[in-house]
Amino acid sequence: MGKRKKGLESMETRTLHRNIFQRLFGICATRKPSHEACWTFEEGKILLDLGRTPELAVPGGAVRLEKNKGLPERVLIVHGDDGAFHAFRNRCSHAGRRLDPVPGMEQVQCCSIGRSTFDHEGTRLSGSAKGPVKTYGVRLEQGRLIVEVQAQGA
Ligand code: FES
Repeated sequence: MGKRKKGLESMETRTLHRNIFQRLFGICATRKPSHEACWTFEEGKILLDLGRTPELAVPGGAVRLEKNKGLPERVLIVHGDDGAFHAFRNRCSHAGRRLDPVPGMEQVQCCSIGRSTFDHEGTRLSGSAKGPVKTYGVRLEQGRLIVEVQAQGA
């Protein structure tokens, strides 16, 4: 366990279990969706059909979307223990490795040796990173998750 530094001491972090090779090579735990057709990218938004994404059916679940279908950034989508969905640019602000959710902690953690950990707002809590990770606005609409990756007109 680690603790946040000055002024943020109340927030504990936990290390996600990964072996040394997974850490060295930056192999994340979170998988791509089992049904790749569950999502599209249109007009700057990810449209994800929750009915076709079993990975996100229960709190603690997550999927990673890679840069394809026009998506300009890798994105990690997490179904938080608070029941809400959260989306992150899936690129650690230290050296760009992918992130994974930390079970029971409302946090995501870099899969590399540096183990940078961030809260669901993207704020850095611990690890090698010096800054936050980008988060995206998320909303539910008729069984679909809409992730605002690019602001309109951007
Ligand atoms: S790339 Fe994430 S801690 Fe180094």
